Amino acid sequence: HHLALDAVVDLDVPGPTISRHLYGQFAEHLGRCIYEGFWVGEDSDIPNTAGIRADVVEALRELSVPNLRWPGGCFADEYHWQDGVGPRDHRPRMVNTHWGDVVEDNSFGTHEFMALCELLGTEPYVSANVGSGTVQETSDWVEYLTRGDDAPMARLRRRNGRDEPWKVTFFGIGNEPWGCGGNLRADQFASLARAHATYARNHGDNRLVRVAAGASDDDYSWTETLMQQVATLGDAEPRDLFQAVSFHFYTFAGTWGAKGSATEFGRDEYWATMRKALDVRRLIAGHAAVMDAYDPQARIALALDEWGTWWDVERGTNPGFLYQQNAMRDALVAAVHFDAFHDNARRLRLANIAQTVNVLQSMLLTDGARLIRTPTFHAFAMSTGHQDATALPVRERSPRAHHVVGGTPVATVSASASTKDGAVLVSLTNLDPDAAATVRLDLRGAVVADPVGTVLAADDPAAHNTVDAPDTVAPRPLDGVRLDDGVLVAELPAAAFATVRLTLT
Ligand code: AHR
Repeated sequence: HHLALDAVVDLDVPGPTISRHLYGQFAEHLGRCIYEGFWVGEDSDIPNTAGIRADVVEALRELSVPNLRWPGGCFADEYHWQDGVGPRDHRPRMVNTHWGDVVEDNSFGTHEFMALCELLGTEPYVSANVGSGTVQETSDWVEYLTRGDDAPMARLRRRNGRDEPWKVTFFGIGNEPWGCGGNLRADQFASLARAHATYARNHGDNRLVRVAAGASDDDYSWTETLMQQVATLGDAEPRDLFQAVSFHFYTFAGTWGAKGSATEFGRDEYWATMRKALDVRRLIAGHAAVMDAYDPQARIALALDEWGTWWDVERGTNPGFLYQQNAMRDALVAAVHFDAFHDNARRLRLANIAQTVNVLQSMLLTDGARLIRTPTFHAFAMSTGHQDATALPVRERSPRAHHVVGGTPVATVSASASTKDGAVLVSLTNLDPDAAATVRLDLRGAVVADPVGTVLAADDPAAHNTVDAPDTVAPRPLDGVRLDDGVLVAELPAAAFATVRLTLT
């Protein structure tokens, strides 16, 4: 065991609040996410509440999902919400051109989504159609969702069975407009986004967080155009239109054309994955720096509203359905993101992993009536204590351990900490798949006691869960965690994500 991290945490120097919304989820009409994953219909043999899978809801409640983004993704920009309300057997059909070219019957629409949010106890993040929809549709949808009086859309909602308006927290204006969302130039999108956001009104006491669809990866010029043309409108009506600007970043080992397998990979692909995942720090910092120039007080949030691993689809599955397994490696990618989120919580206040069930880096995978929790699910479950906690920066006393990947050093340990409700929660990740790691954290400025460790680890980073072996990768107690005069010492197995909870005395 070598000392991989020797760091200091000042318990009396609080950082920013870690928004719970950094732990958001994403459910698109894509492959088997909505249909089969969430929605089985009222007549299904699979236990359900008004058509929504009971086992999926029960599992997700363990994650305290703070918000759920829907209906896309690329799908959002060809979705016409009026097709998804009213009696199900009268709803028109459409073609989901982005994802498998399948016919969508609109049986899961606005009411079903809002019912799902209520079952999960989560806040909705609804994304408007800017690519192929109209400003009027956007305006009407917000009125339908959030208005309480006898306005035309409120009346229509009542006719469709819902009296009270819903609360809608996040409202997305567009999605990847530089690509599937219309192939627009940044200034074109800015003009469209301003119009849509103007008519996405705050009705009654509902206050929308309007999210302008943002850049891919490190396209900082897109963010700069948005900050110039969308986010800050000058002194007259400062920041009335948008409350957040987003970007998307996916992790894979290879290239977009050949991303690599979710479960069959060697050490080179493993390390390439980690190097890519850790790059999220550079991207967050880069977008934040652009925003700082226009909005130094950080009133406008940065949102990473799509992130996660993207592998080649599993053999024999529809390439348009983006179905992939989820291994211990995926949980480590998630852990690395969480630490980056915590360290950047002042500006980054919304994030959504793609996607919750059966698509990309999922929490849950279903097979007929069966359900498994993925390693990524467990990483989220172990991290719920960071939601709305106060970040405690981890400062290293000496350089942390590194592995050299293609001439670039990649840190093999990652850590973050927060405090809430009289407790301190520390997250510790050992990315090295071949060696255990010792971590020392000098917890100063307050007295802590009773460390309780939990670890998610596997002998092989490709280890994963299946319906026949659903608990191959599952959390267990982390033995040997100790406090030496205020210094937390933990031994992490290879390829491990651990949390340690301590009590403030
Ligand atoms: O999450 C899958 C897809 O990835 C989304 O629909 C799109 O926004 C992104 O390209």
